[in-house]
Amino acid sequence: MYEDKCVVIGVTGGIAVYKALDVISALRKKGVKTKVIMTESATKFVTPLTFQSISQNMVITDMFAEPKAWKIQHISLAQEADIMLIAPATANVIGKVANGIADDMLTTTIMATKAKVIFSPAMNTNMYENPIVQENIEKLKRFGYEFIEPDSGRLACGDIGKGKLPKPEVIVDEVLKNLYPKKDLVGKKVLVTAGPTKAPIDPVRYITNRSTGKMGYAIATEARDRGAEVTLVSGADFLECPKGIELINVQTNSEMREEVLKHYKNSDIVIKSAAVADYKPKNYSKEKIKKTGDDLKLELERDNDILLELGKLKKNQILVGFAAESNSLLENANKKLKNKNLDFIVANDITSKETGFGSDNNKVFIISKNGKVDELDTMSKRDVARSIFDNILE
Ligand code: CTP
Repeated sequence: MYEDKCVVIGVTGGIAVYKALDVISALRKKGVKTKVIMTESATKFVTPLTFQSISQNMVITDMFAEPKAWKIQHISLAQEADIMLIAPATANVIGKVANGIADDMLTTTIMATKAKVIFSPAMNTNMYENPIVQENIEKLKRFGYEFIEPDSGRLACGDIGKGKLPKPEVIVDEVLKNLYPKKDLVGKKVLVTAGPTKAPIDPVRYITNRSTGKMGYAIATEARDRGAEVTLVSGADFLECPKGIELINVQTNSEMREEVLKHYKNSDIVIKSAAVADYKPKNYSKEKIKKTGDDLKLELERDNDILLELGKLKKNQILVGFAAESNSLLENANKKLKNKNLDFIVANDITSKETGFGSDNNKVFIISKNGKVDELDTMSKRDVARSIFDNILE
């Protein structure tokens, strides 16, 4: 998918230099071609040879070295880049570019490229918060340069505050989002639900299910990368939400219903991958239930069927449901498709060991209301998400 893409990575001199190696390695695993330019001070932290081995390409450090190719290097790299990523970006490189200084290979290439340039700053908190650095960042943003916010935490110098290079996966996610070849959801609002809901019994106990939310998060990320404005209503507690997605955390069926109804009217596509509890304890105990010598009977009552309600309220939205089944997969899924007035249903067999709950893979059928059945092979949840949108947009 990214085989024809090239990212030129500018590495500048800070203690976070070593993290850039993980970023490059992850991009290479996705098939992205990576070319590295190091500033002289970056080479004091990690040798160019290490970057050369990881990127599988010559690393450029010196603007006046013997040319390796006929083309003028800073111009050819500037042209070849689909994205330029500066990670870690020091106060120095930000300041130079903001003020039009191009005195080495990296700054000349940044100046010469027409590709999007993303800076991922990392430096001491006081430096980062220095108004001069902040003004330089603001100026560059005005000119269309992008920035990945640094993380807060304990810095290499011992200070605590903002200035840490984000985790490599965050940087990679930002780069891949920009490189994503399909941009067919620009201008669309997509609402996704994910994860389980919880039905509380007392202040310490609840009933829930085995959904992890991975499928819903993959759908939300796919929609974001294709250019949509995405709202994710999630009952999943442990997943990190990718940047650029509006995340609304919920616990119960009612909370999920309320948030979904709030966003439903303005949504173009609604995908309900959440595993919503159908029953809740009839009597919630405000106090912790104490054990006695007897058995305990828990009476359950029906809770809202959110998707059924959405089907009834449907106007122009494309409504997609999921069917998690342990038997008669297609028959049950087709029934839900009709009963809930859906446009598509994604049916998966939850008895399969290598797919389903908690797994990174899934094996599904995508059934449309027109009767088309798309049987997908076992594939990553992200690939399933891609197929869902391909089916919707077809
Ligand atoms: N769903 C929902 N509200 C519920 C139950 C399910 O919105 N109370 C949605 C799910 O998000 C999913 C679809 O309905 O998109 C199907 O969920 P599933 O649990 O497979 O089906 P149910 O309708 O609950 O039917 P059953 O329990 O009989 O399988």
